[in-house]
Amino acid sequence: MNSSSLKHVYCHTMTKTQSTIFYCIVVLGLILIKIQLSEESELIIKRPNANLTRVPKDLPLQTTTLDVSQNNISELQTSDILLLSKLRVFIMSYNRLQYLNISVFKFNTELEYLDLSHNELRLISCHATADLKHLDLSFNAFDALPICKEFGNLSQLQFLGLSGSQIQNSSVQLIAHLNISKVLLVLGDTYGEKEDPKCLQHISTETLHIVFPSKREFHFLLDMSVSTAISLELSNIKCVLEDKNCSYFLGTLERLRKTQRLSNLTLNNVDTTWNSFINILQLVWHTPVKSFSISNVKLKGHFNFRRFHYSDTSLRALSIHQVVTDVFSFPQSNIYSIFSNMNIQSFTVSGTRMVHMLCPDQISPFLYLDFTDNLLTDIVFEDCRNLIRLKTLSLQKNQLKTLENIILMSMEMTSLQKLDISQNSLRYSDAGSPCSWTQSLLVLNLSSNMLTDSVFRCLPPKVKVLDLHNNRIVSISKDVTHLQALQELNVASNFLTDLPGCGAFSSLSVLVIDHNSVSHPSSDFFQSCQNIRSITAGNNPFRCTCELREFVKNIGQASREVVEGWPDSYRCDYPDSIKGTPLQDFHMSPLSCDTILLTVTIGATLLLLAAIGASLCLYFDLPWYLRMLWQWTQTRHRARNIPLEELQRNLQFHAFVSYSGHDSAWVKNELLPNLEKDDIRVCLHERNFVPGKSIVENIIHFIEKSYKSIFVLSPHFIQSEWCHYELYFAHHNLFHEGSDNLILILLEPIPQYSIPTNYHKLKTLMARRTYLEWPTEKSKHGLFWANLRASINVKLVNQAEATCYTQQ
Ligand SMILES: *[C@@H]1O[C@H](CO)[C@@H](O)[C@H](O)[C@H]1NC(C)=O
Repeated sequence: MNSSSLKHVYCHTMTKTQSTIFYCIVVLGLILIKIQLSEESELIIKRPNANLTRVPKDLPLQTTTLDVSQNNISELQTSDILLLSKLRVFIMSYNRLQYLNISVFKFNTELEYLDLSHNELRLISCHATADLKHLDLSFNAFDALPICKEFGNLSQLQFLGLSGSQIQNSSVQLIAHLNISKVLLVLGDTYGEKEDPKCLQHISTETLHIVFPSKREFHFLLDMSVSTAISLELSNIKCVLEDKNCSYFLGTLERLRKTQRLSNLTLNNVDTTWNSFINILQLVWHTPVKSFSISNVKLKGHFNFRRFHYSDTSLRALSIHQVVTDVFSFPQSNIYSIFSNMNIQSFTVSGTRMVHMLCPDQISPFLYLDFTDNLLTDIVFEDCRNLIRLKTLSLQKNQLKTLENIILMSMEMTSLQKLDISQNSLRYSDAGSPCSWTQSLLVLNLSSNMLTDSVFRCLPPKVKVLDLHNNRIVSISKDVTHLQALQELNVASNFLTDLPGCGAFSSLSVLVIDHNSVSHPSSDFFQSCQNIRSITAGNNPFRCTCELREFVKNIGQASREVVEGWPDSYRCDYPDSIKGTPLQDFHMSPLSCDTILLTVTIGATLLLLAAIGASLCLYFDLPWYLRMLWQWTQTRHRARNIPLEELQRNLQFHAFVSYSGHDSAWVKNELLPNLEKDDIRVCLHERNFVPGKSIVENIIHFIEKSYKSIFVLSPHFIQSEWCHYELYFAHHNLFHEGSDNLILILLEPIPQYSIPTNYHKLKTLMARRTYLEWPTEKSKHGLFWANLRASINVKLVNQAEATCYTQQ
């Protein structure tokens, strides 16, 4: 269903706006699908220089571009390319094709770019052609121009490359009606000397490029007077014979005077004399040409100085590139004087060995001077006051040495906005010379020189773009000339160790500082440079330590568009263990970097431990455990100190246990089973007392036969039994000799007030807390018994006499 029928289906339910929007969406969708399809279908196969003798058979059928240039293919057949139905671009230049039937491409209906230049084609035949935009048959061995009548149908044709040794009017007529952007015509070596290719005028093209036979003296007639071409390029102009004075070529130029449309003239590969060269200039001066360019020039011979007629010219721009000359046999100033007084706006001399240029004799109309790649020195345009209109000057790649001289030179160029003095050997010594840069300068290229930090002490005050890359700058101190207008600063490939702040460059928006020695950049760069739109700081030897964290954070937060080359060119250089790691992946825990944080953390940990300890005490009664452990170790210690034999001599029992009748259940169910399971002999008074003796006598008797005496204390015990023992205690003066053999078990808490006031000893004992407390929690019972057993467990000798209490 196409978009319009979709629209019909939905129209009746929609308002007008809705349907318009819907229609737009559908159309947009179709466009998107189409874009996607065309992107997907792009498949480029390149097999240049592969020693092929045929077009390879194994090509994907989806191939859209096929490049088999620079091979040995001598034949091209329909079957070679038949299946490549998507083929749009076919490049087979530099092969050995001799014959071609253009209809081999009849099934490649998409084909629009066909390059068969630099083959050995002598003949082509055509029956059908695709609708080509680019057809190159130049640099072949055709005799007659290879123009089929089918070419007349190539209405899309933008480029046509032809070659031949004869030009027939009849074949040129076949394409006369086409509007081709560029025609390249290569004239074969046997092209007739006196032939008058007037028919070239019938080719309707904007740009015509004629390549003459390279080895022969220019001896051709060429009349372009009614040509429609705007640009004309002529290659291989050889007129070296002194007696001929280049007359044929000058004649050709002469005839260009009438070509009103012609605006650009380019001569390429010119081999001639100085005299002819100046004559050529002089002739072009009086044609309608506005822009004239000569490249790859070989000059020799003499120059007979004469006046150059500047007036009556359309010329605006002249460029001379790549000139090789003999040793000069005449004063070079004659040439410089002609050049410097030219009344044009734009003048380029590059790639020559020009050593000087004179100041124009009067105010010059030069706006643009480009003297790149010559041998000019510091004295060029010294004290020259006639270049006051000049806006752009390039002295790139010359022999300039002292920046002070260039600063002085610029002083007189009051309109100069752009100065390129890169790739020289400039130094700046700052030896008290005035800093007299012209105020008008906006773009200054000082790259690839020998400048040091001092250069920042004298810079043009209004400069917006400053290129200082590849110099010897070590630091940009804070007190440099304030460059309020500076927007772009390039200091790449220097020896800087830090990023410059923007204190002195308040408008800075682009900073390039890659390939320096920046190891730990200040983190406040982004705060200082609020206007920064782009920073390139990669390929520096970053030290990945704590100090770098802030910078990494800031640079990581800045958006990708701002930080050029992030993250790939930003890598750690130190420490060695992480050398090469992208800064993006460099993380340092905040703890290891911040002392305050570290202190706080340790403090917090200690506090936490204390809190855990406190809660252990509160919830699990830690002090009770500690007390028990203490008593246990004490007992152990004492047991070791008492001589064993003495102990063992009289004893029958491990322990004598005294308790109130109220507590007898606990004694029988808890105490006895827990002691006797370790073979501890226990004597209970209530069962074993000898009748006839008083209670006190009994008590004293059994206490003496027992290693320890255990008293189970409880309020009942105090009330009923304690009085018996008071006497015993008094008798033996127990508390003064030490209470080693006395074990008090506090079965239930005894409030202080419930102890009768005259029980001094009990009060003392209770106050000293020298008793074992029966824990209510079951979990603590184990330790309680262990402790108790430890304090009474001693080896007894006379076991047989045990009569106090016998186990069943
Ligand atoms: C400065 O000149 C160098 C070549 O010497 C060039 O690569 C660079 O782009 C120029 N800088 C500016 C800002 O034009």
